[in-house]
Amino acid sequence: MCGIVGYVGHDRSLEVLLGGLKRLEYRGYDSAGVAVIDAAGELNVAKRAGKLGVLEDELQRHPISDGATGIGHTRWATHGGPTDRNAHPHLGDDGRLAVIHNGIIENFASLRDELTAEGIEFASETDTEVAAVLLGREYRRTGDLVEAFRAVAARLEGAFTLLAVHRERPGVVVGARRNSPLVIGLGDGENFLGSDVAAFVEHTRRAVAIGQDQIVVITPDEVTVTDFDGNGVDVEPFEVAWDASAADKGGWPSFMAKEIAEEPDAVANTLRGRIRDDAAVIPELEDLDALLVGIDRITIIACGTAAYAGQVGSYAIEKWARIPVEVELSHEFRYRDPVITPSTLVISISQSGETMDTLMAVKFAREAGAKTLSICNTQGATIPRESDGAVYTHAGPEVAVASTKAFVAQITALYLFGLHLARLRGTLSVAEQAAAIAELTAIPGKLERVLESTDSVAQLAHWMSDTRAVLFLGRHVGYPIALEGALKLKELAYIHAEGFAAGELKHGPIALIEPGQPVFVVVPSPRGSDEMHKKVVSNIQEIRARGARVLAIAEEGDASVLPFADEVVRIPLAAPLFEPLLAVIPLQIFAMELATAKGLDVDQPRNLAKSVTVE
Ligand code: M6R
Repeated sequence: MCGIVGYVGHDRSLEVLLGGLKRLEYRGYDSAGVAVIDAAGELNVAKRAGKLGVLEDELQRHPISDGATGIGHTRWATHGGPTDRNAHPHLGDDGRLAVIHNGIIENFASLRDELTAEGIEFASETDTEVAAVLLGREYRRTGDLVEAFRAVAARLEGAFTLLAVHRERPGVVVGARRNSPLVIGLGDGENFLGSDVAAFVEHTRRAVAIGQDQIVVITPDEVTVTDFDGNGVDVEPFEVAWDASAADKGGWPSFMAKEIAEEPDAVANTLRGRIRDDAAVIPELEDLDALLVGIDRITIIACGTAAYAGQVGSYAIEKWARIPVEVELSHEFRYRDPVITPSTLVISISQSGETMDTLMAVKFAREAGAKTLSICNTQGATIPRESDGAVYTHAGPEVAVASTKAFVAQITALYLFGLHLARLRGTLSVAEQAAAIAELTAIPGKLERVLESTDSVAQLAHWMSDTRAVLFLGRHVGYPIALEGALKLKELAYIHAEGFAAGELKHGPIALIEPGQPVFVVVPSPRGSDEMHKKVVSNIQEIRARGARVLAIAEEGDASVLPFADEVVRIPLAAPLFEPLLAVIPLQIFAMELATAKGLDVDQPRNLAKSVTVE
């Protein structure tokens, strides 16, 4: 939440900052602001509530003088509403210092009380302004921005990435981070800072991830990183695996539409280089194999869509590797005193690699003695750095707030992991492994076919644009798909939607069924468990008998649902465990199209942000 950009170099800060904020806007879009030190040494600030476009219009109407040093911010409001006053940057040292912030300063109230008692008057309701005032004071005391950061960091509790510029220090941007992300972009005669590499990838693909509790100083020609105690830190640059065009809409009406279309590639790229002789061999795990052989239990932690991917993956890992797997929301896991032993493997799943709930749960698990593995889509992110091992999904940058291609890539990575572990544990025969690999490698082609025949779903969504509630049912791996279908509809179309395990229906939710109530049902393949298939068909009849409008997602050739369904959306045949990778697509498209029909912004739904870096 909140995107931050810093720049030093040439006389074009505004162009770099606004371009960076455009690419980071998915992190929050309640307000935006910039601060630039111009050639005359003036500190110029512009900030506005609303999306970045509002700030851009303001800068057109009332231009500020550009310069070679600047910072920019796009906000997801936490402390104080989304107003001009609360927009970042905030000022310290009598307006000579500008500060931007991502995170939450948990002890801000006591610090603010202390400063208020000393006569300081605050211009905003934010926690950030407290840091700006403290930094200004420390700078006046020490005459050194880095010293000031060190002193202030020691006083702050919670999560923060802070960037500051001071009009007495043109050509310098200083940043500090604890529990919130910060990445350096290494340029030629110019350097960049950003919440993630998207902030600067159109200028440079050479990047450095800043570690926990570190301070960075960038000048046009130098980058210096120290820890909070002042010790030098060696940095390891990496090359960003994608270029700026990967994060452009590329002619699509929305990032979400583009990212859905990229799902076949997301799966294919996640599989690439990880299959050898009809078995899953994940090279990144080789060093961990001895450790993996020793585990006796797996806990998957994640939030939102990533947690549903975890739920799907848990069925496969348990079936193939014959090891108990439980799935838990990261924020619940951490606070319930779970039983963790050295033979517990905690797998975190996170597209961004920055979700604070998941990061804190990973740290908690490590401290409690568990081994930790991260499944992540973002290079240089914090969660994989804090884990014993990482398996990257190669879905490419996901910009739309609603997760789509990352979801199928996460399931793919979990399936590869399940097969890798099954091979190590000897729980699957060579033929069984080969059969699973054949199913997995066929998925990109089948996804292409699903994407070629989505017109009926789009039409359905447009017909249903005034629907007030939609229910989703599924069993086994279809259950998390039902949950995901409901989540997509809630977050994009602001429609009440609930996912249920089909077997749970008769324990209460069936009371919701009234004539005309739309219910999506994910029908399992009849070629898997015939019994399970029959049960779902019975569930369909039960809700149909009570007037539900049944929208079935069923595999090609399954005629059993025809007499009872109002609409049938077909997906290609796949072994039952692999069906979720196909069945989720119509539900993603349904939510996107329904939101579009309602005239909503599918890339930036209200109240949300892509990367949830607060707890
Ligand atoms: O970056 P992460 O995968 O950790 O994000 C987890 C959730 O916040 C995310 O999946 C969220 O639920 C999406 N908006 C769903 O579309």
